[in-house]
Amino acid sequence: MPYTIGLRLGWLTDIHLNFVSLLKRVGFYAQLRQEKLDGLLLGGDIGEADTVTGLLAEIADRLRIPIYFVLGNHDFYRGSIETVREAVAREAAASRWLRWLTASAAIPLTASTALVGHDSWADGRLGNFFRSEVMLNDYVLIGEFLGSNKQERYARLNALGDEAAGFLDARVREALALHRNVIVLTHVPPFRESCWHEGRISNDDFLPHFACRAVGDRLAAIMAGHPDHTMTVLCGHTHSPGFARILDNLVVNTGGASYGEPSLQRVLELE
Ligand SMILES: [Fe+2]
Ligand SMILES: [Fe+2]
Repeated sequence: MPYTIGLRLGWLTDIHLNFVSLLKRVGFYAQLRQEKLDGLLLGGDIGEADTVTGLLAEIADRLRIPIYFVLGNHDFYRGSIETVREAVAREAAASRWLRWLTASAAIPLTASTALVGHDSWADGRLGNFFRSEVMLNDYVLIGEFLGSNKQERYARLNALGDEAAGFLDARVREALALHRNVIVLTHVPPFRESCWHEGRISNDDFLPHFACRAVGDRLAAIMAGHPDHTMTVLCGHTHSPGFARILDNLVVNTGGASYGEPSLQRVLELE
């Protein structure tokens, strides 16, 4: 008799483990081990520039299962995007368990489902960037933004969003060529409708800093052209949970988070 064994994937996002004591982290890993997971989907904001690689190594060592991850804006704090990306790429390349999706091809999970992902970045294009007075720590704690004026920040955010959109476009098309379903793991909500803040959609002051229109436009265009395929996006960044159906075949789950209280968002079971 042929049989299938379900794949159990735990989804985490915005765990910010740099704000969690070692004792509490060890307890969290023990809780995750009890779930008998086959793999972990880890959205960004894991730590900060000086801690993220060590925390990734610690998670891998404690869980010893494949860990598919992306980085979030906090992972670059007190460092730079360039140096953290280099360090994380090195750490993942040397690890049996760590897979950084931002540097990976589409990953087949089952016969019907593949996984792709990218860190992504809020690209400034949703809401009203130039009227917004929101000043994220990103703009004073990440090397690439230091000393930049508003116009320069906007150009940088646009470029980071475009990079994510271009990468995901290629990876999603690879995935859909061979699989009916694709899971997209990313840090930043790709649509206005998925940019939750305390049960509502973020306003025009916050949207520029919390959503990525470049990625959303690209994902929606691809899925409109693939009506027989489905896409599930898993994102975080706003720390407020919510669900959005963008198209009949495209849904977005946004994870919730509280600093100091890392949690398992959900277990996905794939047949
Ligand atoms: Fe976060
Ligand atoms: Fe974030």
